[in-house]
Amino acid sequence: MATKRSIPYSMFDRDSYGLAAKNAKILERVYHKGHAHGWDGKEVLSSLIAEHGTPTMNDTQKQALGRVFSIILWGELAAWRISAELADEIEPFEPKMAATSQAFDEARHFYVMHDYLEVLGVRPDGIHWGARRLLEKVMNADNLAKKLLGMQLMVEPVALTLFHIVKDLNVEPVLTHLLPYYERDEARHVALGVQYLPALMKNMSVSERLGLFAFQFELISYEIATNYLLMRDLEVLGVDPRALIDVGKAKQIKAMEAVLESLDVKATYPTMIIDRYADAVTELTLPASSNAGNLWTRLKSVSDIIRNGRPSVADHELVPTIGDEQTPLATGGRMRRAA
Ligand SMILES: [Fe+2]
Ligand SMILES: [Fe+2]
Repeated sequence: MATKRSIPYSMFDRDSYGLAAKNAKILERVYHKGHAHGWDGKEVLSSLIAEHGTPTMNDTQKQALGRVFSIILWGELAAWRISAELADEIEPFEPKMAATSQAFDEARHFYVMHDYLEVLGVRPDGIHWGARRLLEKVMNADNLAKKLLGMQLMVEPVALTLFHIVKDLNVEPVLTHLLPYYERDEARHVALGVQYLPALMKNMSVSERLGLFAFQFELISYEIATNYLLMRDLEVLGVDPRALIDVGKAKQIKAMEAVLESLDVKATYPTMIIDRYADAVTELTLPASSNAGNLWTRLKSVSDIIRNGRPSVADHELVPTIGDEQTPLATGGRMRRAA
């Protein structure tokens, strides 16, 4: 039974939700930036096709790209539904605005990806079990914190990593020039997670926090499985699956650290445990090339990771900085040029 709705007179009282003024300010800006950096998907896609030609690639590449980007397509739908739910369920004013603007962005991401795949001649059919479980797990999460953590801080950072790598590899020129528009929007969505999750966590009991932690474990397991199942397709596109999971996970950890910092939690155990667990499973399924052939050295390296962590982990920025020059058809850049 749905709960009966009432007018939330307290929605402007940030303190009662545990939302700090500085986080609220950033969330409010997320909404307004959504307008300033908005773009017309139909127009952007047709301009890019006019400029670079109709997307083509050989059949093997097309099938591989189709399987990888079908996950993105259904991921966009999941993000759309979740952000629409967040827009509805979140009470305080600023994060509600940010979630509303995200729902609008995700609808655009969904139809543009659909149109792109159609032009390429790819039918987005079913996706494999790892990705499906991951998306359904987040869509069916039983509380707001899990939805926010799952989508904004665990799924979006991996999508951002994939966009960045595919763009750099220049797999197909229309896609290469389309992806910065996605990246710029997704960066705002990660901000919703980082800025609002601390407020939700402040009001959680110990057992709720543990539940959130367990949820994170489950999602990361599905992410590693997805990466493993996509290994061949990623390699056809020239994407190193190990780099994808390593960079994606580094971004997730960074997001979690930002949340904990905002909460003033000094303990690094939660992120450390998840970090080591993910590294160990990754090493087991997608070993670093030096350990690939030998099961014994691989197991040894897994046990080293569990005990001591991975020696040197490169630092990766949480979200990319994308400017008007990479998204020339977005509203803001256009208006500045016209002026
Ligand atoms: Fe999206
Ligand atoms: Fe997003």
